[in-house]
Amino acid sequence: MADQKNALIVGASRGLGLGLVETFLQRGWRVTATQRSTAPGLAALSSDALRIETADIDDDGAVASLRETLSGERYDLIFVVAGVATQAHEPLHAVPRDVAAQVYLTNAVSPIRFAEAFLDRLAPKGLVAFMSSVLGSVGLNESGGSESYRASKAALNTLARSFEVRHRDAGFGVMLMHPGWVRTEMGGADADIDVATSVTGMSDVIEGRLGQAGCVYVDYTGKTLDW
Ligand SMILES: NC(=O)c1ccc[n+]([C@@H]2O[C@H](COP(=O)([O-])OP(=O)(O)OC[C@H]3O[C@@H](n4cnc5c(N)ncnc54)[C@H](OP(=O)(O)O)[C@@H]3O)[C@@H](O)[C@H]2O)c1
Repeated sequence: MADQKNALIVGASRGLGLGLVETFLQRGWRVTATQRSTAPGLAALSSDALRIETADIDDDGAVASLRETLSGERYDLIFVVAGVATQAHEPLHAVPRDVAAQVYLTNAVSPIRFAEAFLDRLAPKGLVAFMSSVLGSVGLNESGGSESYRASKAALNTLARSFEVRHRDAGFGVMLMHPGWVRTEMGGADADIDVATSVTGMSDVIEGRLGQAGCVYVDYTGKTLDW
């Protein structure tokens, strides 16, 4: 299919990443999905339109080698979904420094470094999406909690805005996405919505945004969030 869209979903072994891969395949996209190690859920989606690769976004060497492996690909969407919430329920002073630093590296630094490395794999007017969270909003933080996690997603938001400004002349779009509070391993069983509801909404929002430049911070229903 000449006009078939092509997506790179980073961090797709389970949860929201896996759900996004399944949804984009159902919508007729070609998808490259990354895992850190063999992921049964991803393998079960087996399809001619699915390419599965392996990389840890915290490993610059692995990201560089993935970039080489994917040299023939051009993506309409690069979506860095991977993230961690290590010791998110403890206040910052109770989290060891190296743990808080690693949450920042995985959630904020590595997604931006990944996107930077893959910019020449992005199709003209493509979209770079990052999985943020409403908890990354400084202005909406009325309830506190999840301190190191919140800070890492706020940092991701800030870094993504700078990334978009730095590359504004290139004309691609940048999206910071809040998926809702979703029943995954990270979201827990008490979360508001299931994976299908979240990924259907996110995919609609992404498909509606393709081809547009600028940086937006939105949730899975398309609502714009306060920074
Ligand atoms: N669930 C929610 O309610 C919610 C709300 C707001 C935002 N989010 C965000 O949505 C994203 C996905 O969350 P989820 O709920 O699907 O969580 P999840 O079920 O815990 O899945 C996390 C995913 O990230 C991958 N990952 C973690 N560190 C990685 C690394 N260094 N390199 C590559 N992949 C890595 C994991 O791979 P492995 O299987 O190898 O560990 C897994 O695929 C995260 O960024 C999270 O912060 C989630």
